[in-house]
Amino acid sequence: MKHTLIKTEIPGPESRALTARRKACVASPMDSLASFYIRDGRGAVVEDVDGNKFLDFTGGWGCLVTGHCHPAAVAAVRAQAGHFLHADFTVVPYEPWIELAEMLAKRAEGKAQKSVAFFNSGAEAVENAVKIARGATKRRSIVVFEGAFHGRTVLTMAMTHRPMPYKYIFGTAPDVYRLPYPNPRKNKYTPADFEKLLLENVCPEDVAAVVIEPIQGEGGFNVPPEGFLEEIRRVTLKYGILMVADEVQSGYGRTGKLFAIQNWGIEPDLITLGKSIAAGLPLSAVVGGKKYFDALPKSSIGSTFGGNPVACAAAIEVLKTIDREKLLERAVSIGKVIRRNFDALAKKYPVIKDVRGVGAMLAIEFVKDEAAWTPDAETCQKVIQEARANGVILAGAGLHKNVIRLLLPLVITDEQLEEGLEIIGKAVASAVKGRPGKAAAAGK
Ligand SMILES: Cc1ncc(COP(=O)(O)O)c(C=O)c1O
Repeated sequence: MKHTLIKTEIPGPESRALTARRKACVASPMDSLASFYIRDGRGAVVEDVDGNKFLDFTGGWGCLVTGHCHPAAVAAVRAQAGHFLHADFTVVPYEPWIELAEMLAKRAEGKAQKSVAFFNSGAEAVENAVKIARGATKRRSIVVFEGAFHGRTVLTMAMTHRPMPYKYIFGTAPDVYRLPYPNPRKNKYTPADFEKLLLENVCPEDVAAVVIEPIQGEGGFNVPPEGFLEEIRRVTLKYGILMVADEVQSGYGRTGKLFAIQNWGIEPDLITLGKSIAAGLPLSAVVGGKKYFDALPKSSIGSTFGGNPVACAAAIEVLKTIDREKLLERAVSIGKVIRRNFDALAKKYPVIKDVRGVGAMLAIEFVKDEAAWTPDAETCQKVIQEARANGVILAGAGLHKNVIRLLLPLVITDEQLEEGLEIIGKAVASAVKGRPGKAAAAGK
């Protein structure tokens, strides 16, 4: 049985009518990847307003490790909605917050006793991690890396490495220092250079935190070279700097561990979480050493809707679902299938230069020139469009927009995965067809 169904032109008439309404009132910078509008989502399948069905390999930018409308999360949301929708934990506290905090503190393994605070978005979690680090260390500076993505608020935009449009149009924030991200295939830096680069760029005695995505998300699923995270841990401990693991994208099971950094057996001082933690509802968190939170004055962190009870109820079910449905193991087995498939594509089409990632957090990179790694955004975007037209929603990544990353729901079935990968394979063949040179040869 096929899970995708394209029965109208894309976008269909109902979607086109919504686009016409949208043009009249929706702020134009709020762009969408798809030209169609969702009506229903179940597991890995999205149905649009015209009845077309797509496999969702993007999950609303990585927010759906437990899939669309997981029944356990939906039931918990309904049950909580029957009691109260909002109280603000800082006004009248409630149990779902405490239960979820208990679960997360337990899972953030390590020696230090952990505390948890909830917010709304990934950027808000990162901003609060910075506040906690600054408050606890009484220092100002923040160190981030090339290729990083930490959000789109003014501070997190400054931490994000995307000059256009963010810094060019909106400006930046002070006390943020960006260091090179060692990549043996693309630059000359090695993990051992980290301390030297830190000392050359900033006074370590004024650094509150080094913030790093254990695997870069928007930057193109860059996996740190061997020893890099360990070196950051060593150097941060040496200078009394907090190590913050931004797990907003790499977290929640995608890599086969709840937090990606657990693949390296490292205990960071703070972990930021967001996206998938509440089955698609807005919720984010900072999990980390109790002593850092305890260093702050009362009421110095918080947010009106942060840790909303309905979102907490859903998030409790996400963690239970990850255990019950063995989604960490599933990430590993799905990852093996995807990698096998992507490796075969890379072998066939030289335009695919790299297959990388951990577990089910996998990406392929498109290049024009094999030796120089010249980015091929054009082919990459064509593949994304072609796949979408044939029923698979894909997301791009990378500073040069030449990477396709998979952020698929871990509840995807074997059949759905196979069908989706087949559509991606055909999309690559179609994108390179008729092109001059080596890359085209395999697509003819
Ligand atoms: C690693 C990382 N941190 C932070 C953010 C910001 O999250 P949000 O868009 O929920 O503010 C993102 C979003 O993509 C992310 O990937």
